[in-house]
Amino acid sequence: MGKTAEEISNIDNEELLKVLNEAYAEEWLAYYQYWIGAKIIVGPMRTSIESEFEEHAKEELKHAEWLAERIIQLGGTPVLSPADWDKIAECKYMAPENPLDVELLKQNLASERCAIKRYQQICEMCHGKDFETFEISRKILHEELDHEQDWEDFLQDIKSGKEYTDKR
Ligand SMILES: [Fe+2]
Ligand SMILES: [Fe+2]
Ligand SMILES: [Fe+2]
Repeated sequence: MGKTAEEISNIDNEELLKVLNEAYAEEWLAYYQYWIGAKIIVGPMRTSIESEFEEHAKEELKHAEWLAERIIQLGGTPVLSPADWDKIAECKYMAPENPLDVELLKQNLASERCAIKRYQQICEMCHGKDFETFEISRKILHEELDHEQDWEDFLQDIKSGKEYTDKR
């Protein structure tokens, strides 16, 4: 850990690193969940959802990068083995066993809701104590909120479309 980084740290470093590594593992799982989802998706909304999945996959990977850099700055080591990702993650990987578009949407909506709680937790831990980690978590939180909104909007559109056709 950098000398000044250590001087300005007034937070339980061990606890923070544990939580950051959990989040880091969750980001890789989220990345893969979107990445593989984009490959296997079927259904009437495939094309629009596929590209949104690809975009989200890139964003989750970027979150993993930000977290890895911060973990290293704080003197920690990002989880070294993928075998540990699912073990330490609290937001669990959800295998897209049913490739139907609407099912994948629901799954990823649940994952985003878990991610939002995770970054809310890290923001609360760091608020007023560790400005840099707070800033990173807040940036990620902002994007996870966007992701949740995307899937809520998609599901709402599907529901409205169905109601419309049912009425005809
Ligand atoms: Fe993320
Ligand atoms: Fe996300
Ligand atoms: Fe999006």
